[in-house]
Amino acid sequence: MTLRVSKLVVRGFRNLAAVAVEPDPRSNLFVGANGQGKTSLLEAVDFVATLRSFRGATRSQLIGHGVAQAAARMVVEGGESEHEFRVTLDRKTREVSLDGKRPERAVHYYGAAACVVFHPQDLDLVRGAPDLRRRLLDRILVRVVDGYGEALRSYARALKSRNAVLRSATPDPRAIAAYDPMLARYGSAIIRARLALTDELLPAARAAADDIALSGSEVSIAYRTKSPTDAEAYREALARAIDADRARMSTTLGPHADDVVIKWSGRVARDVASQGQTRAIALALRLAELEVLRARSGRTPWLLLDDVSSELDRERTERLFARIASLEAQLWVTTTDPAIAALLPSATRFTVHAGNVTRG
Ligand SMILES: Nc1ncnc2c1ncn2[C@@H]1O[C@H](COP(=O)(O)OP(=O)(O)O)[C@@H](O)[C@H]1O
Ligand SMILES: [Mg+2]
Repeated sequence: MTLRVSKLVVRGFRNLAAVAVEPDPRSNLFVGANGQGKTSLLEAVDFVATLRSFRGATRSQLIGHGVAQAAARMVVEGGESEHEFRVTLDRKTREVSLDGKRPERAVHYYGAAACVVFHPQDLDLVRGAPDLRRRLLDRILVRVVDGYGEALRSYARALKSRNAVLRSATPDPRAIAAYDPMLARYGSAIIRARLALTDELLPAARAAADDIALSGSEVSIAYRTKSPTDAEAYREALARAIDADRARMSTTLGPHADDVVIKWSGRVARDVASQGQTRAIALALRLAELEVLRARSGRTPWLLLDDVSSELDRERTERLFARIASLEAQLWVTTTDPAIAALLPSATRFTVHAGNVTRG
């Protein structure tokens, strides 16, 4: 089954004051000069689906300057079913609904959508901070593992509280340890899910790398953690790390400290891959995200490709589009370069100008 956005209405999000788009089920091209709102449009689509900004923006950064509230509504079709997502943001709160109701579990909301984004900052998947790589795993897991979204939230809450105790003037060891069972329960579950997912992403990333003309066998990814996967062993490890935690005034062990190590020809990719190789590795990881989402959920995500001409060379762009065409996924491509239209002859074309999106 293939998921397709059939309608998107956005208000007060970044520079998009009031935008309504009815995208083509297959292929859409958004053309506009820099600073007109192309990335913001894709960010809005992805935000409704993931409730996070792929630019790492905070809620306040997403709300349009001078407005109190941002709101978005999106209709997603897949097979026989259709779902309506709504999100409203103000500077303090976020409200979310699925089909007019507040979702009971995170997986109901996240699981009803699935999109994969390719954007220029993806180079940071290889070169940037571990946080971006953990986010890649989490974006997939919230959709396909029931309880994962809740585990992430509960873990973050317990971690914040424990760290607050560690930062106090005279931390009480019992007050610190009070959070350990929660951290052990959710932390070990998060790590188990991430390890299993990394095992699935590896062959998918290699296959994708082959497809986009990287020598695939040279890419490897591995989840790196110091935490045990068994909850009881994890709790004991937390207890053993207490002196280190007190010295650093923060919790040293846990999924928040983990990384995904990406290697290229046996060496850490960040250190050895060229600009072009880095780009191709990042792209392979996104294609792997797509493949695993499809395999685990039985639904093909829609794809958002930001700033295509500057991101990829022509040959790779052609291969990428060919691969995507074979998946029959819905495609949203933005570009400053109208010549990209030649690679997407059947795309519906939109113009993005000063925060407005118009057909043609
Ligand atoms: N919260 C906001 N409110 C209003 N405008 C914003 C906000 N955040 C960013 N912008 C502006 O929105 C414009 C569009 O940005 P962007 O979507 O990145 O453009 P493009 O991708 O087309 O180059 C930019 O001029 C940017 O400065
Ligand atoms: Mg942009």
